[in-house]
Amino acid sequence: MSRIDDIYDWFDSRFGLGAAQSFLGKAFPAEDSFLLGEVALFCFGLLVASGTFLGFFYEPSTTATQYQGSVMQYQGEEMPAAFVSVLQITYDVPFGMLIRRMHHWAAHLFIASIALHMLRVFFTGAYRNPREPNWLVGLGLAGLSMGAAYTGYSLPFDEFASTAVGIGYNVTLSIPIFGEWLSNVAFGGSFPSSSTIPRLYFFHVVLIPLAIAGLLAVHMAILVRQKHTEAARDEDVQGRETVDADDGTVIVGLPAVPNQAAVSAVVFFLTLATLSLLSGFLPVHNIAEYGPNNPASTPELIMPDWFLMWGYGFLKLVPSWLSFDLLGIHFSAEFIGGLLLPGIVFGVVALWPFIDSSSEQVHFTADPTERPWQTAVGMAGITFIMAASIAGMDVVLSDVVGMSTAALRPYLIGLVVGAPVLIGFATFAVLGGFGSDPPTEGTATTDGGERKTEDEE
Ligand code: HEM
Repeated sequence: MSRIDDIYDWFDSRFGLGAAQSFLGKAFPAEDSFLLGEVALFCFGLLVASGTFLGFFYEPSTTATQYQGSVMQYQGEEMPAAFVSVLQITYDVPFGMLIRRMHHWAAHLFIASIALHMLRVFFTGAYRNPREPNWLVGLGLAGLSMGAAYTGYSLPFDEFASTAVGIGYNVTLSIPIFGEWLSNVAFGGSFPSSSTIPRLYFFHVVLIPLAIAGLLAVHMAILVRQKHTEAARDEDVQGRETVDADDGTVIVGLPAVPNQAAVSAVVFFLTLATLSLLSGFLPVHNIAEYGPNNPASTPELIMPDWFLMWGYGFLKLVPSWLSFDLLGIHFSAEFIGGLLLPGIVFGVVALWPFIDSSSEQVHFTADPTERPWQTAVGMAGITFIMAASIAGMDVVLSDVVGMSTAALRPYLIGLVVGAPVLIGFATFAVLGGFGSDPPTEGTATTDGGERKTEDEE
């Protein structure tokens, strides 16, 4: 018996590793698009790791501090401690610039991979019975991830980012009845006060990451319990035992350990390599150029990050005359554009598994080309978000087309309303939705019935 066997036996006698082995044999469908969720997972891990490094040097305070560092233009100047510390991280802390960039690009890849993962789940109908709860947990994760990015954006306290973050303050303040209280809780008083940065820092490094970690644990626990969906099988699967093509009670795929673990390791290192490459070559938000927050001035161009641009677009499109009073409560255009409309979008996404519902359990992924109306709604939704994002960039667009933003607004409203309808109908038509004999979903929606639990398999 080798030494390794001895060590294994020692642990086995203490922890009963034999039982864990059947768990580690959990089957993973060998579908590349299923790896998008893993990319998001790895990005979260890398965000925590790089954020921990930054936490050792970042100062969550706006107290005036004298800058002593490599950036000559600020040498000896008194500036907010938060801004000074990020300058130091970027130019004086060894590896600081690399890790700051890594954190930045990991945040962007995190949100991009979440969005793509969500689209994969949407277009393959993987949200249907019994996975509606995990769709809702996932949506919570998407919202929290945007919250993490938003609060992180504010931390360097430079002129550009803090002005953009101020938009969020005004939107919070515009909430009927609770606005003032909520903005006090979220921003520590009027924006920016001396409590704003410590408050947003607390959200960014404690509250939101813990909430994400908690929801991730729930997301993964539900996944392990319900198992993945699986691509429809063309024919019976031959293995240790034969599995019928339409038998949804048995999942066919790679065992978690060692096969899927090896695939996941490759995905992890590819994620790390991509982020290293981006961090090595692409600079991030240049705070030395923008300078520290200056309440007396407003930068010419204010824009949020790309993933919040659609919400910013709503803010730009809702005209001020749309404000109204109801039962003595004021509903401002800012509230309608900044919170009500994005809230409705989130609400519709949350309700979607109950709109395209299925009374029977579905364990096989659907082919989007065989689901004309669902795919059309998805395409219309993507177009809507993209059009609203273009509206958020109206200032840039007005420069390009040589029109004022006010003159541009009716066209942008037309784009946001018209383009999704057009794309939705076109998708529906191309997929044969108007035909007399609508396509069926074939084996893709075969009822899986009760799936076996791990120990039954
Ligand atoms: C922090 C964000 C998220 C992470 C790290 C994450 C991670 C994962 C992973 C690793 C899987 C298994 C592999 C896969 O199917 O891709 C999964 C499955 C799933 N996720 Fe997410 N997810 C996140 C957000 C979301 C969002 C935003 C949604 C939808 C609104 C969602 C809905 C689902 C569903 C329904 C499944 C089961 C899919 C199936 O069985 O085919 N997740 N997630």
